[in-house]
Parts: sequence; C-alpha cells; structure tokens
Amino acid sequence: MKNSSPRRLLFLFFVLLVAMSALAQPQPKKIIIDTDPGTDDALAILLALNSPEVRVQAITVVPGNVTAQMGLQNALKLTTLANRCDIPVAGGAQHPLAQKLITAEFWHGKNGLANIELPTRCKADPRFGPDLIIELVHKYPHQITLVPVGPLTNIALAVSKDPSIVPLVKQVILMGGGISGGNVNAAAEANIYNDPEAAQIVFNAGFASLIMVGLDVGNKTLFTDRQVAELQAAPGPIANFVAQVGTFLLDLSRRFGEHGTPMYDPLAMGVTLDPTLVTTHAMRVDVETRGEFTRGETVANRSNMVERNVLHGDRYIIEGVDKVTPNARVCVDVRAQRFLDLLVSRIRGK
Ligand code: BDR
Ligand code: CA
Repeated sequence: MKNSSPRRLLFLFFVLLVAMSALAQPQPKKIIIDTDPGTDDALAILLALNSPEVRVQAITVVPGNVTAQMGLQNALKLTTLANRCDIPVAGGAQHPLAQKLITAEFWHGKNGLANIELPTRCKADPRFGPDLIIELVHKYPHQITLVPVGPLTNIALAVSKDPSIVPLVKQVILMGGGISGGNVNAAAEANIYNDPEAAQIVFNAGFASLIMVGLDVGNKTLFTDRQVAELQAAPGPIANFVAQVGTFLLDLSRRFGEHGTPMYDPLAMGVTLDPTLVTTHAMRVDVETRGEFTRGETVANRSNMVERNVLHGDRYIIEGVDKVTPNARVCVDVRAQRFLDLLVSRIRGK
C-alpha cells in the first residue's frame, strides 16, 4: 500500500521522535524576581533574562539599595536594556514594615546602577507588587518560584494579605542572611537588616521549600578582572553594561583591600537556574528582631534540636532535647568557578 511505504513510516517515526524529545525538554521555571536594583540585582536580572531555564513572569520592586521610586526606574532601565518591555515591572512597598529605610548608594552608586546612565523605554505596570505576586501565584498554582534579592517587605506583605498563596508557591530562593556573621555589622546581612520583621514573617510562613542563599556562599563568588576581561572580549550592550558594573564594584572592593566583588544576587539566580551549584543543609532559621547587637541576624539551628528545660523548685533541669522542624535549606558551599563561568557565558549570550 502506498500509505505504509517504508519512507512514510520512517517519516512518522521521525515526527514521533521530535514530539517525544520536545515533551522531554524541561519546561522553563516561572519566576518572579523581587528586587531593589542595585548593581548586583541588575546582574541577577540580566542573568535571568539571558537564561532558558527560567521565564520571568514579573519583576516587583522593593526599597532597599535605593528608594522605591529609583528602584522602579532602574528595573525599567534593565528591561529596556534587555529589550523585554513585555515583562510586568511593578512597584511595591515604599518602606520597611517597622523601621526607616536605609539606602546604599555608598555601595551601588548614586543612581544605584554604578552611575551608568541607561535609557528607559519600558513602562511600569500599575499593579501593586505584592498584589501582582498574589495574582500570579493563583494564576499558576505550584508553578511559581519567588526569587527575592532585596529586603523581604513585598513578600511579607503578600503572604500577610493572602496566606493562601503560601502552599501554592513552588519554591522561594532568596538572597539574604548568613550563618557566619554579617556584612552590615557583626551579625546582620543587609537584606535582612533592612526589614527584619518582614524576614521573620517569610522564614516562618511555611513555604514548602525555601533556600537561603546567604553571605556564607555569596562571599565565595568573587567577580574579578578575569570576568571583566571575558565580558569585554564579547562586546554587546548587555555585556558592556555588566563589565562596567563589574569595574565599578571592583574599584570599590580595592578601596577595601579586596581583589574581587561578591556576586550575591546573581548567585541566588544561579541557584534558581542550577541548584547543583550549591550544597545546602536543612536548618531552622529565625530572624532576631530585638537584639541590641544582633537585630537582623538569621539565627540558624544547625542541629535542629533544643534542650528541654523543666522548672524544678528554684532551678531548671535539662530533661532531654526536643526536635525543631527546619524551615529552610541554607547554602553552606558553592561551586564558585562553575557559577562565575555560567554567569559570564549567559551574559555573553552563550
Ligand atoms: C545584598 O544587599 C544588597 O546590597 C545587595 O543587592 C544584595 O541583595 C547583599 O547583602
Ligand atoms: Ca539586592
């Protein structure tokens, strides 16, 4: 029969093979980036926009490195640079939940973007950032990964307004905290220090999976002259911008005797693209909100146990230990060179 000729069967087999391999391809993760852009935020956003593993559903802006207003403009400049005005960029909170805002132009340049001027063509989405997060989580139940790389104000507002989103969020991968000291002071990391109350809400919200990408690993991912040179070797608008940001941050680092600058927010995005870049341990993490020297510290219980002290007359007696349930996976190690190579190759467009 003409229809079942070997050539036709071969063709059908080929079509089937193509269809099966398309189905076998992992679908890109749907992510929402909550950010306070910010130099390293900018790099994290550009890394995401250049990576096939993720589809950015929205960028929500939180005050932190710069004011809410400047952060929104910076996010729009970045989507303009990447030619991605299709991505909703929404403003959110105007200040932390219970304290004054602390901005960081000292580290990020007076415009938050290493003093590099970029044009804006994209327009802001009129929705309130936390409401947009709520809307998208309901629209894509169990599919959204939240990637907060700034203070956790917007995420805390979203879960406080609508706690029903918590079990519908696939994963939270946040840049913040540390279990071996801070970068603001001895104890606290900047994102957590900028809104400790919000951070405590987020760590205790009950997310099924929360990965804390903190200083312990971020400090090992040093962007150096080598990465600047690799980017300069492949000129283009995005690579040029990232090389300029890198140069700005490196100049700053040298003033403090360092030869490299940590890629905090890009690493959180790197972990979103490829979780095998880091080693994590399950821990119970709480945020100190009252300590005189430790406000904003992420207090991690490495053994997930606490002593059970029972009052007997005028003293307590330890009668045993109780387990505490971990609420986060804390990154404790990172394949730093592999991550830096990934960052550079994606920014170069490869
Ligand atoms: C974090 O603080 C901000 O300055 C950076 O953008 C990063 O998110 C590092 O502590
Ligand atoms: Ca940030």
